[in-house]
Amino acid sequence: MKKLLTRIVSFGLILCMAGAMAACSTKSTTTTEAAKSESETQANAESSSETAAAAGLTSQSGKLVMATNAFFPPYEYHDEATNEIMGIDVEIAGAVAKKLGLELVIEDTQFDSIIAGVQMKKYDIGMAGMTVTDERKQAVNFTSTYATGIQSIIVKEGSEIKDIDTLLSGSYKVGVQTGTTGDMYMSFPPEKGGVGEDRVVRYSNGNDAVLALSTGKIDAVVIDNEPAKSYVAANPGLVILETPFAVEDYAMCVNKDNTELLDKINQALKELTEDGTIPAIIEKYIPSKG
Ligand code: ARG
Repeated sequence: MKKLLTRIVSFGLILCMAGAMAACSTKSTTTTEAAKSESETQANAESSSETAAAAGLTSQSGKLVMATNAFFPPYEYHDEATNEIMGIDVEIAGAVAKKLGLELVIEDTQFDSIIAGVQMKKYDIGMAGMTVTDERKQAVNFTSTYATGIQSIIVKEGSEIKDIDTLLSGSYKVGVQTGTTGDMYMSFPPEKGGVGEDRVVRYSNGNDAVLALSTGKIDAVVIDNEPAKSYVAANPGLVILETPFAVEDYAMCVNKDNTELLDKINQALKELTEDGTIPAIIEKYIPSKG
C-alpha cells in the first residue's frame, strides 16, 4: 500500500502538469436556476454585513465560481430535458454559496483541468465528486468531506472478468476517465496493483468510456460506484462487479492561498450537515431505501 501511495504521489505531479496544459480546453458556462434565484435573494439580502464580508473572498466579487465535469451522475450531469447542470454537488455548492451570500456560477470543464484552474484562480472551487488524495493536497486545499465514493468495475454481462484479480491478470483493456483516481490505480504496473499504461484507455468522460465498453472496444471500465450505477442503468447489457477496490472521500478543492474561503466553506458545510440539508440532498439523489 505504501508503494501504491508513493506511486500515486508521483503520478499526481504528472497529472498537475498535464492539467495545467489542458486548462485552456473547451468549457461551457452555466448559471444554474438556483444561482439565479440566489442572486435575486442576494440583491435583497437583509444582512448587508454578510454580503460585505463576502467581498474579496472570491476572485469575482459576489460570485462563487465552481469548476466541475458534468458527466458524473448523480453528482453532476446535464438534465436530459433542459440541459441544465444538476446533481448533488450542484445543490450542495448552491446551499454553501447561499450561506456565504454569493451567487453560484458553474463552469463545466475537463476533469483533469479543474485543479490547475483552481491553482490559477480561474475557479474559486473545484467540486466534481473529487477524491481527496495526498498528491492533490500538494496542489490545492480540500474542504471537509461531504460524501464517500468507491471505485467499481463495470463489464459486459457474461464477461469472463469476474473480479479485480481476473482484470489485473489478463490482457484486458480498461477504460477510465483521464486524470481520475481510476486512471491512477489502473495505470500502475501489475506489480503495484494496476494493469499498466499499455492496457489503460483514457476517455474525456465516463460516458464515452461506458460507450466504448458497450461497443466492445474495451473490456472493462473503472469508475466511481454511483456514476457506475447510473451508466449501467442507462446501458442495458452492462453489470457492476461485486468487488469494489478502493473507498474514497469526496471534497471541494480550494486555492491554497484562500484559507478564508476554505474556512467559511467548512463552517457552511458543518451547519448544512447539522441542520440536515446535506443529508437530504444526498438522500434525494441516492435514496437509502428502495
Ligand atoms: N472520484 C474520482 C476522482 O476524484 C473521479 C471523479 C470524476 N468526476 C467527474 N465529475 N467527472 O478522481
